[in-house]
Amino acid sequence: MSALEEKVAVVTGASSGIGAAVAEELAARGTSVVLGARRAEALQQVCERIEAGGGRAAWVRTDMRDESAVERLVETAVERFGKLDILVNNAAVGTVGTIAAGRTDEWRMMLETNVLGVLVACRAALRYMLPQRRGDIVNVTSAAAYEAWPYLAVYAATKAAVHALSQGLRAEVAEEGVRVMTIEVHNVAGTDFASRFDPIVARDAISTWERRGLLRRTSGMLATSDVARAIAFQLSQPDPASVHHLTLRARAN
Ligand SMILES: NC(=O)c1ccc[n+]([C@@H]2O[C@H](COP(=O)([O-])OP(=O)(O)OC[C@H]3O[C@@H](n4cnc5c(N)ncnc54)[C@H](OP(=O)(O)O)[C@@H]3O)[C@@H](O)[C@H]2O)c1
Repeated sequence: MSALEEKVAVVTGASSGIGAAVAEELAARGTSVVLGARRAEALQQVCERIEAGGGRAAWVRTDMRDESAVERLVETAVERFGKLDILVNNAAVGTVGTIAAGRTDEWRMMLETNVLGVLVACRAALRYMLPQRRGDIVNVTSAAAYEAWPYLAVYAATKAAVHALSQGLRAEVAEEGVRVMTIEVHNVAGTDFASRFDPIVARDAISTWERRGLLRRTSGMLATSDVARAIAFQLSQPDPASVHHLTLRARAN
C-alpha cells in the first residue's frame, strides 16, 4: 500500500497549474482530495478528470481572502471523507510592478491571498490535526523568497513570509505530531500565474530581468507534474522523517 493511500487532503489553488497537478497526483496515489479556488468551473473539470481516473475528489469554491470560506473548505474534507491528513497551501497570486508605482489594492490582494490565507488555512487544519496528533502541511513558496527580483518585490515578500511562518509553525507543532514542510519552486511552465500580469508592465519587467541576467529563457522550465511528484515525495516520507524544505528547479536554471 502506498504511503498516500486512504489519506484525505485539501489542496488550495487547485483550479489550474501546480495545484491541479498536485490534486491529480495525490488522487492517483489513493488520496481523497478536496480542491479549493475561485474558478468553480475549472475546479469541477479537475474533479471530473480525477473521478474519471478512478480517484475521489470534491471541490469547494473558495476565496483565500474569505476566512469563513477557507474554514468551510477544510471542514468539507472531514464532512465528506471523514478526516483530514494533508493540507497543501498552494494558492497564490502575483502581480508585476515596481514599489514606486505600486497599487495598494494589488499589494493587499497578494498579502491577503498568499500570507493571511495560508495562516487561516493552517489554523483551520490544525483544529483537526492537533487533536489526532497527526497531519502534514506543505506550503508552496518560491525562489523569489530568497532572491527578490525587481517588479516582483511584494510577491517575493509574501513568499518570504510563508517560509518564515512555516518555520515558526513547524517549531510549534512538531512535537504534537504535525509535520510542516515547504517547497520552493522556480519557473514552472503550464500554469496561469503570469497570465494575470499587466502586459505593458510585464514587458518592462521582462526586459529588466533579461538585462540583469535574472531570466534565462534557455535554461529550461519545470512542468507542473515535476512539482506534484516532489510534493508527493515529501508527503510520502515515513514518520519521523520530514523533508522540511525542498528546493526544486530545472537542472540548468
Ligand atoms: N509558476 C511558477 O513559475 C511559480 C514559481 C514559483 C512559485 N510558484 C507558486 O506556485 C503556486 C501555484 O502557482 P501556479 O504557477 O500553478 O499558478 P496558477 O496556475 O495561477 O495557480 C494559482 C492558483 O491559486 C488560485 N488562487 C489565486 N488567488 C486565489 C484566491 N484569492 N483564492 C483562492 N484561490 C486563489 C488560482 O485559482 P483561482 O484563480 O481559480 O482562484 C489558481 O488555482 C503559487 O503558490 C505560486 O506562488 C509558481
